[in-house]
Amino acid sequence: MRRITTFFILSFFLILSGCQLQESQVGEPPQKEWSIALHGGAGYVSKDMPEDRKEAYMQSLEEALAIGSEILENGGTALDAIEKTVNYLEDNEMFNAGKGAVFTAEGKNELDAAIMDGSTLNAGAITGVTTVKNPISLARKVMTDSKHVFFAADGAETYADQTDVERVDPSYFYTERRYESLKRAQAEEQSSSLIETDDQKAWKYGTVGAVAKDKNGNLAAATSTGGMTNKRYGRVGDVPIIGSGTYANDLVAVSATGWGEKIMLNVSAHTLAAYMEYKGVTLQESMNYLVDDVLEPGDAGFIAVDKYGNFSMKTNTGSMFRAAADSEGNKEVAIWE
Ligand code: GLY
Repeated sequence: MRRITTFFILSFFLILSGCQLQESQVGEPPQKEWSIALHGGAGYVSKDMPEDRKEAYMQSLEEALAIGSEILENGGTALDAIEKTVNYLEDNEMFNAGKGAVFTAEGKNELDAAIMDGSTLNAGAITGVTTVKNPISLARKVMTDSKHVFFAADGAETYADQTDVERVDPSYFYTERRYESLKRAQAEEQSSSLIETDDQKAWKYGTVGAVAKDKNGNLAAATSTGGMTNKRYGRVGDVPIIGSGTYANDLVAVSATGWGEKIMLNVSAHTLAAYMEYKGVTLQESMNYLVDDVLEPGDAGFIAVDKYGNFSMKTNTGSMFRAAADSEGNKEVAIWE
């Protein structure tokens, strides 16, 4: 009799735990082992751009994607994947970050960057650096090696002195293309025309970023930029403001690109994460809410990866250099639509 009773009690608990397991699996989408998304800036790039330039952009996006994907496929961390991906974009003068940074009104290049580890909620940010070749790597050092989160201008340079990040003469950031843009921006600022040309619109945009989920389920986000062409003394954009241009937690990792002032005023990257958390909506629903309902047409674009390894990339500007891939073989590389 005791044996039969024990058998029934054990069976009862086994059935109960089976039900609980099934319940916890209900509604959980299948996980991708890893995923990554990157951007090279949202804006108003003309579809009429020369074919060889279009191909050069597409190839650069492919190369950047391959760097991060390989790290993740080999079991590397999301932080390593996004740092190395952003390093590549910073070294590529086609994009507004690192080597290709735009000019300030005073004819300088002042760079901003931020990185966030979703598994610890730790972050590092810097603004207004002029001698750091790869600002995202300095931001990562701020996150991991300093007791502070955000260093600005001279302070960020002083902090850089205490690290092994690569330094360059400020003239390293000079590119003729960006200098010409500054001259045009300044000339047109003097004109009285109220109609904004695509060229003028483009001065507000550009940035690079990457977000990833690794095989351990950790999420991370990184963003780096030269900011806005013709920006004034000490102007700080959205990128290094944690929660505006860059944010990651255990649910989602987000990087923004576009008009920094608008992105900041809507605390955009955190808004995407908070809407998912508080409303229980999917990544795509939250992305649609942010891009279509919170921001106004022409403001910004975003890339994000969620804890299931889903990626989403969306802009309400005319274009966004972007690419994404995951462990299931899904891949997207695009500029328009
Ligand atoms: N989104 C880059 C900036 O406005 O600085």
